[in-house]
Amino acid sequence: MERTRWYKDMVFYQIWPRSFCDGNGDGIGDLQGVYEKLDYIQSLGADGIWFSPLYPSPGIDCGYDISDYMNIAAEYGGMEWFRKVLDGAHARGMKVIMDLVVNHTSDEHEWFQKSRRRVDPYTDYYIWRPKKANGKLPNNWDSNFEGKAWQYDPLRGEYYLHLFAVKQPDLNMDNPLVREEVKKVLRFWLELGVDGFREDVITYISKAEGLPDDHLFPVYKGMPKYNHGPHIHEYLSEFRTDVLSHYDCMTLAEAPLVWPKRALEYIRETPNSEIDMMIQFQCMCADCLFSDYFHLPFSLRRMKRAFSSWQNKLEGKAWNMLYLENHDHPRVVSRYGSEQYRAESAKSLAAAYLFLKGTPFVYQGQEIGMTSWYPEHSDMYEDVQTRNQYRNLPESRRLPKLHQASRDSARTPMQWSDEENAGFTSGKPWFYVNRNYTEINVAQQENDPESVLNFYRKAIALRKALPVVKDGIYRELHPLSNRLYMYLRQTKQQQLLVVCSFSSKAERFRMPKGFTSGELLLGSYPDEEPGVLRPYECRVYLKQGD
Ligand code: GLC
Ligand code: CA
Repeated sequence: MERTRWYKDMVFYQIWPRSFCDGNGDGIGDLQGVYEKLDYIQSLGADGIWFSPLYPSPGIDCGYDISDYMNIAAEYGGMEWFRKVLDGAHARGMKVIMDLVVNHTSDEHEWFQKSRRRVDPYTDYYIWRPKKANGKLPNNWDSNFEGKAWQYDPLRGEYYLHLFAVKQPDLNMDNPLVREEVKKVLRFWLELGVDGFREDVITYISKAEGLPDDHLFPVYKGMPKYNHGPHIHEYLSEFRTDVLSHYDCMTLAEAPLVWPKRALEYIRETPNSEIDMMIQFQCMCADCLFSDYFHLPFSLRRMKRAFSSWQNKLEGKAWNMLYLENHDHPRVVSRYGSEQYRAESAKSLAAAYLFLKGTPFVYQGQEIGMTSWYPEHSDMYEDVQTRNQYRNLPESRRLPKLHQASRDSARTPMQWSDEENAGFTSGKPWFYVNRNYTEINVAQQENDPESVLNFYRKAIALRKALPVVKDGIYRELHPLSNRLYMYLRQTKQQQLLVVCSFSSKAERFRMPKGFTSGELLLGSYPDEEPGVLRPYECRVYLKQGD
């Protein structure tokens, strides 16, 4: 089947289902709720939805611990509601992609339950190792969430590997039967009509031969031994050849610790490329080192370096996935912007990434400039990763760190209105609602032409109307500035200039040559002050001809 690469014209909206919209009043977001909001999603100009996991799951990692890959959880409305939402999206010309989480399953998955009892053919579905005589663990790897990466199972009398939580055992992808299971899952959803997959930590699925100790990494020990492992390309090609190539679908790979050169091994555009786009983390490391765990002050230059590097190095070779938020990071306004200049900085951030070359993803709530949630006590966090982070610190030092790093910061219910529970549910919400919902909510922003929401709409509409946003070459101006982000997009016919301030003071700036006659298409302040940008102001200019 021909790959039309339809995603290049699109903007995606990410739904994290538990907190999006509750349709039946039990306090948990669900597909009934999504169904009611399809018109809203479309009104943003989004053409596609990425669903974080909707499958049956014990929920210890909010659905990223799957116990049945070919079903939809009852709490989300089951298969019946999924079909309705899928049809409703397709009827609006929108695509739907699912989260494919196959590095690990839930320990409650039938495969694991059989594997621990050595029931064939499941015996080697997971990565089991015997106890060592000296009492040591099979190797020195850390899990990403909960202590060491090994858990002893008394029933089987062996250890199993879990790169994430204890209840998320890693699948043994070296076993061809496991790969067949993955292909069955892919086929199942594609046959049902879904349009592609976001592949969860997919670069982790092939572990180094013999699972050797790691002597390199001080934390997340082991990562170099399983990230981009020895058979990764073989397995992804197999999924492509055997299943994906028979559908005109899209794949998006989550890839921690990846840089453009590495990414090209997966996404370089050839008829057989394994993957279409990558979720890289460099754009999320402008205020941290390597992951949210090691916080640093925000540096605009770091952000710009990451953006420019991916823009330049993928040019003509592969396609970028663009994002600033998802369910794994605190809200971007609180990180890269300013809560004091919330609306202004939300708009500047939007313009900074929405006019780059690639396919943008918007995470629920980002489009209204939702801010991070700051609970009063660390006990209030739900997330399994957060609960284990900085555990050795006293509460007074731990809490501020969690405020900066926790994934729960962006997992509070979507703020629809200033009604009770932010209009998210008529029942008791499963999680805390951010108290600022009375000021920051969709209903209020619908009525304000200058709102963040309406800025997103305008920016997305513009990006779709202008071929230069899809096709133009990217060129950064003043890369050393730590206050302004300025870039050009250029084709023979058009030039676009994007100017974003990340400063809370007025900043002078000079238009590049020839742009004085440019037309102001979009701005975050109602009027234009020549040569000066007010706090966090952004503007987009167009010039015809080169
Ligand atoms: C990915 C997901 C994250 C999840 C983890 C383990 O990073 O985005 O939410 O906890 O994988 O599945
Ligand atoms: Ca519900």
